[in-house]
Amino acid sequence: MIRTIIVGSGSYLPSKILTNQELAAMVETSDEWIVQRTGIKERRIAAEGELTSDLATIAAERALADAGYTADDIDLIILATATPDHTFPATAVTVQDRLGMHHGAAFDMQAVCSGFVFALATADCYVRTEQARRVLVIGAETFSRILDWSDRTTCVLFGDGAGAVVVEASEQPGEISDRGILTSHLRSDGRHKEKLYVDGGPSATRTVGHLRMEGREVFKHAVSMIADVIEAAFEATGTGPADIDWFVPHQANKRIIDASAKKLGIPQDKVVITVDRHGNTSAASIPLALDEARREGVIGDGQLVLLEAMGGGFTWGSVLVRM
Ligand code: ACO
Repeated sequence: MIRTIIVGSGSYLPSKILTNQELAAMVETSDEWIVQRTGIKERRIAAEGELTSDLATIAAERALADAGYTADDIDLIILATATPDHTFPATAVTVQDRLGMHHGAAFDMQAVCSGFVFALATADCYVRTEQARRVLVIGAETFSRILDWSDRTTCVLFGDGAGAVVVEASEQPGEISDRGILTSHLRSDGRHKEKLYVDGGPSATRTVGHLRMEGREVFKHAVSMIADVIEAAFEATGTGPADIDWFVPHQANKRIIDASAKKLGIPQDKVVITVDRHGNTSAASIPLALDEARREGVIGDGQLVLLEAMGGGFTWGSVLVRM
């Protein structure tokens, strides 16, 4: 059967680091509060004029180089973002042009923090139905642009960045030992949309707006929603926590990650953590973490990797992939 295998990854972080100490000079907060509640020590902030498409293009170029391909080899670009350059066209189209790609298709995926998982699952559908042979899947965000920098309950949590993977079709035996995406599970429930949202938009207010969140409510739902899609992945593949080599969760908050891993019986030493240095980069967090772990030789070929995210909507999802 055809499986969708990951053949390259890349990422990019803006050079400006914003520490908790610097934030404490901007709003009434402290390094101690932020670290204890979230595990975040610092995050990156895009430079003035540095756009989501700029971050995404560099991550994409690095993923292509890692895979040994050029844009000519790609059929489709799916870019997950909640912070597009403009209301339209899709930021994916800008990235396509910047890569010098003038064939195939490119579109954005909007599932906020779950965006990369949704994009990867969508790419898998295109590949397995033979509508695309090779797809560039990107998660890129400039959340610094939609934060209310006077709201200490939200501005300390997020950061900017981008990550990308190249996936392609590969004939595999159809076993659990196959390389590639073994299963994916996507969910959303709009009843929760007011718990985490942006209070502006082209149709509603003709403005961009700022991120608003009921932090406790998000926290309350996150762990059970994450467990739901991970248990679905285990059930679909007959696997369990003992089979997982690496857990690469969306990096929202160290406490959510710890609680989810504990609930699922995934040991701490199998969990990839970047939230301390990146903050929550929304759709970029998983490909950033995955790329870092691959480059450092932490995640290697043949290993079973569980990706999971939960975010605004609410949306949540999982992908189980053998590297
Ligand atoms: N610095 C200092 N004090 C703060 C800060 C801050 N940055 N932010 C809030 N506080 C204060 C509050 O005002 C409150 O004070 P009060 O008791 O005098 O009213 C107190 O700290 C406790 O506030 P809570 O909101 O109850 O704090 P909590 O322990 O729940 O932590 C947090 C807040 C970190 C946001 C937590 O609810 C959380 O992690 N929620 C999940 C949200 C999340 O990760 N969202 C990311 C997007 S969704 C996703 O990606 C999954």
